Amino acid sequence: MSFKSMPAFPEYRPRRLRKTAALRALVAETHLHASQLVLPLFARFGKKVRRAVDAMPGVFQLSPDELVKDATRAFEAGVPAVLLFGIPDRKDERASGAYAKNGIVQQTVRLLKRELPDLLVITDVCLCEYMSHGHCGIVRRGPRAASVLNDPTLKLLARTAASHAEAGADMVAPSDMMDGRVRAIRAELDGSGFEEIPIMSYAAKFASAYYGPFREVAESTPKFGDRRSYQMNAANANEALREVALDIAEGADLVMVKPALAYLDIIQRVKTEFGYPTAAYAVSGEHAMIKAAAERGWVDERAVTMESLLAMRRAGADILITYSAAEVARWLKG
Ligand code: PBG
Ligand code: ZN
Repeated sequence: MSFKSMPAFPEYRPRRLRKTAALRALVAETHLHASQLVLPLFARFGKKVRRAVDAMPGVFQLSPDELVKDATRAFEAGVPAVLLFGIPDRKDERASGAYAKNGIVQQTVRLLKRELPDLLVITDVCLCEYMSHGHCGIVRRGPRAASVLNDPTLKLLARTAASHAEAGADMVAPSDMMDGRVRAIRAELDGSGFEEIPIMSYAAKFASAYYGPFREVAESTPKFGDRRSYQMNAANANEALREVALDIAEGADLVMVKPALAYLDIIQRVKTEFGYPTAAYAVSGEHAMIKAAAERGWVDERAVTMESLLAMRRAGADILITYSAAEVARWLKG
């Protein structure tokens, strides 16, 4: 450890201090702790289903019974929260599976809350997994191009969030990026007796190539076009702050920046500007890159994972959403 000499202390002589592990920990500015972790999980219908996905080693599509097992293992390792995604049996153009009373997320939430009442269950609120076209909102097909209809989509998102709360979700996390969705969801939750359910908004969500592997797991790759009309341009940081400000004004309780590692500047600015609980989502592509390099022996998975998460914490993230949450919790214990 060395401290830079400062003009106010002319007698200062740069020197190396003895750093024991205990001292290093005492003076560390940032810490990783299992209580900061959120594990994303993917639910699909069935029993005893554990379907591996090529693009994401270690990540599975799980039937509710199997998902409870993974959630239990993570919870026992110290991970306090999961973020649920659903893969429906059937898709349509109204995303009806997203807000079905017995939809895949709704069923899984009920089971999770019964088996693990102390686990914080967060649900991703979006329509893309439930839409036959794979977009996050209602699509109108014109003669030349298709467009996503913002306002009609809000009703479906609000309905989806309320149905998750009804099933027992502790928090909802809208990831669609439609304008006004936080307000719509807040109003619907309040009107249905869920005033106390917080909203964690994917506030600064960039249109990112890093989501590729996720779309394979969630089976939500758009059939045409891309998500650039509603997700953010990677070139823009000030716009990200405006997006976050809007979500906070509409009632977001926690805000998220996504992806994480390539957007540390955004995390830092969001945290310093708003001081809100801020989550960083280390997305599928980030996970895949580390896994792939580690598999070849090119990087040390554990060291690189911990260093990346520490960077997110240093930037200002309070909450770390990562597919490695269970392993990280175990490493932190070990
Ligand atoms: C759906 C959604 C996506 C992710 C989270 N929610 C994909 C997308 O917007 O295409 C990405 C998560 C990841 O890549 O790990 N709206
Ligand atoms: Zn979506």
